[in-house]
Amino acid sequence: MSDRERTFVMVKPDAFARGLVGEVLSRLEERGLKLVGIKVVNLPEERAREHYAEHTDKPFFDDLIEFITAGPVVPMVWEGQDATRQVREMIGATDPLEAAPGTIRGDYALDLGRNVVHAADHEDEGANEREIAIHFDDEELIEYEQHDAAWLYE
Ligand code: RTP
Ligand code: MG
Repeated sequence: MSDRERTFVMVKPDAFARGLVGEVLSRLEERGLKLVGIKVVNLPEERAREHYAEHTDKPFFDDLIEFITAGPVVPMVWEGQDATRQVREMIGATDPLEAAPGTIRGDYALDLGRNVVHAADHEDEGANEREIAIHFDDEELIEYEQHDAAWLYE
């Protein structure tokens, strides 16, 4: 077994409002990923700005913060082999127009600014650690045995 790691994922307000929380969770569960943290929150603006700090100077930043704070979100932490890359592949391209059918954005989104789900960038080395720390306290991430692990991993 190699590279079992934790990755940060968040259902965005558009998907929450559209009743897609369960769809997103199901896909990650069925893939075999292990859920170790989840909550429902209205993101305070300061936390949203911290979360998307890498985009602070982009022209779309204000719209992005307005959107991500516009309704409840579902921050989550998922664990698994190569979890960061696996989840990014499942989510699909940032712009739903480019997202392949079968990906979450390719199946549930049409617009770049309403793309259903966030996941930490696998090309950004410290992204998971940073984002998990923004959204979760240590005691909110739980330890348990994943009972089907022997059938998921060689
Ligand atoms: P996310 O962080 O939300 O998972 O999305 P991502 O990694 O696929 O894309 P990223 O480059 O981090 O951009 C964050 C969000 O900003 C919006 N965006 N708008 N108008 C634009 O050119 C533009 N570019 C990005 C998108 O909603 C994207 O998810
Ligand atoms: Mg991103």
